[in-house]
Amino acid sequence: MLHKIKTSDLELGMFIHSMEGSWFEHSFWRSRFVLNEAEQLEALMSGEVGWVTIDDARGKGSPEHAQRKSQPPGTKLAVRSRKPSPKQKQLPSDHHRSYLPPLAERSAKRLSPRERAAEIRKASTTIKRSRTAVMALFGDARLGNAVKSRKIAPLVERISSSVDVDPTIILNMARLKSKDEYTYLHSVAVCALMINLARQMRVPEAQINDIGMAGMLHDVGKMAIPDDILLKPGKLDDTEWVTVRNHPQRGHDILSASEGVSDIALEVCLRHHEKMDGTGYPGKIPASSLSLFTRMSAVCDVYDALTSQRSYNKPLSASQALAKMQSWKGHFDQLVLRSFVESLGILPIGTLVRMDRDELGIVIGESPSDYAAPIVRTFHSLDKDCAIAPKDIDTGRSKTRRLLAEEHPDDWGFIDWINLSADLINSKPAD
Ligand SMILES: [Fe+2]
Repeated sequence: MLHKIKTSDLELGMFIHSMEGSWFEHSFWRSRFVLNEAEQLEALMSGEVGWVTIDDARGKGSPEHAQRKSQPPGTKLAVRSRKPSPKQKQLPSDHHRSYLPPLAERSAKRLSPRERAAEIRKASTTIKRSRTAVMALFGDARLGNAVKSRKIAPLVERISSSVDVDPTIILNMARLKSKDEYTYLHSVAVCALMINLARQMRVPEAQINDIGMAGMLHDVGKMAIPDDILLKPGKLDDTEWVTVRNHPQRGHDILSASEGVSDIALEVCLRHHEKMDGTGYPGKIPASSLSLFTRMSAVCDVYDALTSQRSYNKPLSASQALAKMQSWKGHFDQLVLRSFVESLGILPIGTLVRMDRDELGIVIGESPSDYAAPIVRTFHSLDKDCAIAPKDIDTGRSKTRRLLAEEHPDDWGFIDWINLSADLINSKPAD
């Protein structure tokens, strides 16, 4: 089992599973090894690495964790670590799991306020033009005509450029849509989300435009659904569901009859509602037959649907939507979903995080001032090694508190994190 401990608690014979800090911050060329030399122990205890994860199945365990195993249920909130030395109370400020939204990391450069304002104007124009172009293209599909995808190819390229400059701008804009324009702007949003995810997953550059186009065209089959079903505010009956579930096949038929549509777009159109456990529609296709592109589209499509105002649902916040998607078993490819979360730089509700001042907290929402900045409820002091009265910190507004890192509950011995996190989210914060 993996346990996270301070370097001051290390002992010879322990198996180092991972350590904090980039390779440049310590002298160990391996991150996994048995700690069997006094010099290594000395180097780790005196170096900049504040915390390490040990594997007690492969080496000596921590006495603190051995003690915890024998404790009765109900003591799981306690995180065992000996009192840190004064030096180690100061966590290094730049260890590698520090929370830096990948979106910001991937931006070629930080935009000045003026450049940002110009990019916002550009992105706004791109979205308006894309919406108009998608409406025209979907109009052709509604009339039973072939679609002219080459007309929207330049817009896909512009969306791609905007994602490259600063993805937060266009992704934020694409989220804002009224229920009347949902069908069209959903296509634009999924296009931008797919491109952003493709960049995060380092998909070859040559496929990026096809992936974006696949996002634009994936729901073209919805034009075959009558409006009274497509926009129905209440529950659909069985017959209506059959019509809705046929839209991927109808879309595939339309795109197959159109010129210049890539294989990626055809596949995504047909398969974006398939699930990893083989219960999706229209084909109940098993995971082994679902390509990376279809797995990406399933994630992007559902995320945008959950965070948008639709005729039958109120939108969820980004962190709520991601938490919901993570809770669904068998729907998504977990690696793709993980990359998607990273691509947005948003921490889902329920994520365990480490704050400054040696405290652990849980994400309970997102800041109204910055959707990528979480609201964190602190609940445990690592310094005092005890639970503390929950306190909410808006990391988007606080000038004094800082989120340091996303953490894995297993590393801290939270054996029932699902129930514990639910209790913490429902707890009352201190004033
Ligand atoms: Fe769809």
